[in-house]
Amino acid sequence: MGNPLSDAAELLNGVVVVTGTDTDVGKTYATAALALAGYSSGRRRIAVYKPVQTGVLSGDSGDTDDVARLLSEAGVPREVLTTAEGQRLSAPMAPPPAAAIDQVPLLSLDDHAERIAALLRDHDLVLVEGSGGVLVELDGQAHNIADLSNLIGRNVDRNVGVVLVGRPDLGTLNHTLLSLDALYRRGVRVLGTVLGSWPSKPQALHETNRDYIRNIHAEDGTSVPLLGTIPLGWGSAAGD
Ligand SMILES: Nc1ncnc2c1ncn2[C@@H]1O[C@H](COP(=O)(O)OP(=O)(O)O)[C@@H](O)[C@H]1O
Ligand SMILES: [Mg+2]
Repeated sequence: MGNPLSDAAELLNGVVVVTGTDTDVGKTYATAALALAGYSSGRRRIAVYKPVQTGVLSGDSGDTDDVARLLSEAGVPREVLTTAEGQRLSAPMAPPPAAAIDQVPLLSLDDHAERIAALLRDHDLVLVEGSGGVLVELDGQAHNIADLSNLIGRNVDRNVGVVLVGRPDLGTLNHTLLSLDALYRRGVRVLGTVLGSWPSKPQALHETNRDYIRNIHAEDGTSVPLLGTIPLGWGSAAGD
């Protein structure tokens, strides 16, 4: 299978937090593609951490299992990848209501930051896949993935950055700009954007959305690079 985010390789050091404009936009696929780009450019110890995995029972396959499968299909040796979850909740909902249904406390942001720092001690690259979009509450104390990214940045002496994954379809420009605005307002270092589920036959709408997203600039004038598009079907047996 191809390597859709190979151009992002130089950014892939330390901690890369993968968030999205919404749920189901392709964060897990993007996480796998980022790990593959890291592997292809020489990283040999890569970890994927999912702070809160909702919508799964204990024996089910979660997002980190999907990343492991995609990397295995791409030919990455199993020993390169470490997968870890903070906690699992059964309901397919945001963490606070899902934890209430399972009657368990949510891990704190400090808990997640400690686990990520521990992974960073023996990995070159730690990818962290958030739940849902940027402002989804992770911990029952009104903290979100941007807060977690900032906390990790204060705790570790390594690069920490965020990748925003969005859809290529109608409505994505508003969602992408809103999400970037929320990230920048919180002082997060944004590495760039990714478009998931890129169609094999893109329409003018998809192409104009991609071109617009490729030209987004932060308030200080710096470019917010589009790191790549992930073809719909990437990673499936029949796909590229
Ligand atoms: N590049 C892709 N190729 C194939 N299917 C995709 C792709 N990106 C997303 N999908 C589809 O969208 C669903 C959600 O993608 P996923 O990466 O799990 O999103 P998220 O992690 O943001 O919830 C997948 O189960 C799959 O059906
Ligand atoms: Mg996911």
